[in-house]
Amino acid sequence: MTILQPTWLYKSITVDNLAQIQAECLAVFNKHYTTAFGGRGFTFIYIDQDILRAEAPTYIQFLKEIDLYEKWSATAMIGMIGESRLTDSPIHVDSTDWLARSYALNIPIVNCGDSNTVWYNVAERDELSYSSDDTRFTTVQTFKPETSTEIGRMSSNNPAWINVGIPHRAENNNANLRLLFSTRFYPELHDYFLETNNGR
Ligand SMILES: [Fe+2]
Repeated sequence: MTILQPTWLYKSITVDNLAQIQAECLAVFNKHYTTAFGGRGFTFIYIDQDILRAEAPTYIQFLKEIDLYEKWSATAMIGMIGESRLTDSPIHVDSTDWLARSYALNIPIVNCGDSNTVWYNVAERDELSYSSDDTRFTTVQTFKPETSTEIGRMSSNNPAWINVGIPHRAENNNANLRLLFSTRFYPELHDYFLETNNGR
C-alpha cells in the first residue's frame, strides 16, 4: 500500500492526569537538566529514557495507555527562556525524509500558554542541520523565512500530535521558562494513524 504524506498540521489529544505528568517532567528538568540551555535562550535535547522510567511514572503510564510504549524511541525537551529568538527555532522539517519522521507527540510542561507551533508554506531552502535520537539520525532541513508564509498555528499549551514533516517552528511570547516534552516513536507511526482512522 502506498503511504501518502499526512496533510494535517496537528491533532489535539486528551491526556489524563496531565497535571501529574507536568509535575513529574518539571521535576526531571529541575533535577537533571537545568544546565540544558547553556546560556542560550533555546534548547532541544533528548531526555534519558531511564530517568523518565524511574521518575516520570505517570508519563510512562500514559504511553502505555495509548499503546505506544513499545515504540517509544525518544523524548526531546524543547525549552525557551526569554523572548522568542526565531533564529534559534528556524522554520524546518524534522527530517528530509517524511517517511522517516512525520509525527511528534507534544505535551506542554510549563508556561506554554503564550507559545505556539506555527506551520508554513515554503519556497527556498536554507541550511541543513542534524539531529539524532536513540534509533537514528535525521537530517533537518531549514527554510528561509523571507519567502515563507504561515498556513496554520496551534497553542503549544495544547497536548497534540504535530506534523513535523510540514515546515514549522516554535514561537514564544513568554519571558519565563517554557518547557515542552516531544515524544518520538520508532518505527514511524504511519500504520497507527491509518488504523486509528486518524490519517490524512
Ligand atoms: Fe520540529
